[in-house]
Amino acid sequence: MIVGIGVDMVKLSRLPLERIHFIERVLTPGEKALFYSKKTEQAKREFLGGRFAAKEAYAKAKHLGLAKIGLQNIEILNYASGEPYLNDPHAHLSITHEKDYAIAFVVLEKGDIDE
Ligand SMILES: CC(C)(COP(=O)(O)OP(=O)(O)OC[C@H]1O[C@@H](n2cnc3c(N)ncnc32)[C@H](O)[C@@H]1OP(=O)(O)O)[C@@H](O)C(=O)NCCC(=O)NCCS
Repeated sequence: MIVGIGVDMVKLSRLPLERIHFIERVLTPGEKALFYSKKTEQAKREFLGGRFAAKEAYAKAKHLGLAKIGLQNIEILNYASGEPYLNDPHAHLSITHEKDYAIAFVVLEKGDIDE
């Protein structure tokens, strides 16, 4: 049973890529390793924007604020196929980015909001 859905959109040009503190706050160590492996500024923006949108979308699906969950407690990595996954086995995630925007959508199945 679906117990929550969440969606979020991030404008990539607004991301303060030069602020290390922002990167440190948003990305987990595992995500940071992927972020710094991106070769172009646009690829970095797409990655960071997609992660930020995914964390916001997850918080919405959990019916909680992002501050309450904590950005560092949510991690989004990718399978070898490229498909992204959250560190919550009940969460289904999809990310897209096009030009100046990244969008993420999360569906939570039964069990999540009781944990
Ligand atoms: C891979 C694919 C889904 C990406 O779509 P796109 O329109 O080029 O890019 P979008 O901006 O919409 O989406 C990018 C996001 O899709 C997600 N994604 C990548 N591969 C995915 C997959 N196999 N399944 C689901 N989501 C995927 C990732 O989250 C990626 O963002 P991230 O790298 O920052 O995490 C699309 O190119 C595709 O379906 N290709 C066919 C399958 C393929 O070639 N796979 C390659 C690996 S085997």
